[in-house]
Amino acid sequence: MGTSKTLLITGGAGFIGSHVVRRFVRGYPGYRIVNADKLTYAGNLENLTDIENYPNYAFERADIVNKPRVTELFRKYDFDAVIHLAAESHVDRSISSPDDFVFTNIVGTVNLLNAALATWKDRPAGKLFYHISTDEVYGSLGDEGLFTEDSPYDPKSPYSASKAASDHMVRAYGHTFGLPVIISNCSNNYGPNQFPEKLIPLVINNIRNNRPIPVYGRGENVRDWLYVEDHAAAIDLIFHGGKEGTTYNIGGNNEWKNIDLILLLCSILDRKLGRPSGASEKLITFVKDRPGHDLRYAIDCSRLRSELGWKPIPDFAEGLEKTVDWYLSNDKWLAGVISGDYEKYYEKMYSGR
Ligand code: NAD
Ligand code: DAU
Repeated sequence: MGTSKTLLITGGAGFIGSHVVRRFVRGYPGYRIVNADKLTYAGNLENLTDIENYPNYAFERADIVNKPRVTELFRKYDFDAVIHLAAESHVDRSISSPDDFVFTNIVGTVNLLNAALATWKDRPAGKLFYHISTDEVYGSLGDEGLFTEDSPYDPKSPYSASKAASDHMVRAYGHTFGLPVIISNCSNNYGPNQFPEKLIPLVINNIRNNRPIPVYGRGENVRDWLYVEDHAAAIDLIFHGGKEGTTYNIGGNNEWKNIDLILLLCSILDRKLGRPSGASEKLITFVKDRPGHDLRYAIDCSRLRSELGWKPIPDFAEGLEKTVDWYLSNDKWLAGVISGDYEKYYEKMYSGR
């Protein structure tokens, strides 16, 4: 990618997207960064107040399912590249209402692919459609093994099935029409600005409020956690140095059983909130398991490390401390995102579980 490009980042008001937008806006002043986001419950412009007035940044409220709106954006900006993060991203919501996942994750992605294809058809050189995906497309691991870029697709939830479908469409547009595409599949992210429906911010928020900590099943499921800024750094490296047509796995090499992670969070929060040791642990409540709950995800990211020299920076203890500190000192942000429909969501997901 050259030094003066117009870049579309979709879903830039969400958790990972906001870290990616900030990194690109600050790191590449010669790029024009357009953040297109529908601002669903998960999208929050408060995540970007520090960069909203930068001259190389623009925000467009747009639903990627709306084809004419997507076409209009490509006409208006003549994008050179796309980093596509917009998605419905929460597995539990995909179980209670799968339709939104089909529309945004599949139809929305195809709308973007069509617009990119129409815009770049006769001049694809130097263009790039970079699709951000998840390790969940590979399904669930047993006690052993890692997902590699060659692992077969075996998605198990409506969320992962919709992401898998979008990956397939991106590859098909690359193979059939010669659209320059790259995909990366990442493990579980954590860090500032994550909506408190996901495990880590939900646990932090519940401990703060002395609310039960809902642990699905026996808490034996394993996730591979990566600090969100490490994901943003990987996206930057792949965007600038990745090989067209290639897939890159991204992971933290950092597997934790849910219950062990929750116990660690309890002890960090006891210390930070000045509560007696063991106080937060008492909030742990085992609840009915998530239907079809994937047992274990773990990523082999040796391609990204060896080809592009990526490596995650903070160790987990440091990353978690930073994350907890961020949530404890951003009361206003948290109050904002848990106002509105959050209580209704919580009631629907957790009552009677
Ligand atoms: P998020 O839910 O925090 O943010 C999603 C963003 O997309 C929000 O800003 C939302 O408003 C926007 N959006 C949703 N529907 C839209 C639509 N129809 N049109 C335009 N914008 C829309 O999600 P996240 O956790 O930041 O994930 C971002 C991407 O990374 C997703 O594609 C997800 O599949 C992928 N991913 C997430 C993780 C993770 O651990 N969170 C890991 C690997 C991959
Ligand atoms: O692996 C990458 C994926 O990680 C991303 O693609 C998804 O967008 C992201 O949401 C995440 O999916 P998970 O389902 O792994 O994340 P979640 O935070 O929802 O749950 C993490 C684990 O914690 C999982 O095993 C379910 C469990 N859990 C979750 C919640 C919300 C609980 O035990 N209790 C809870 O209340």
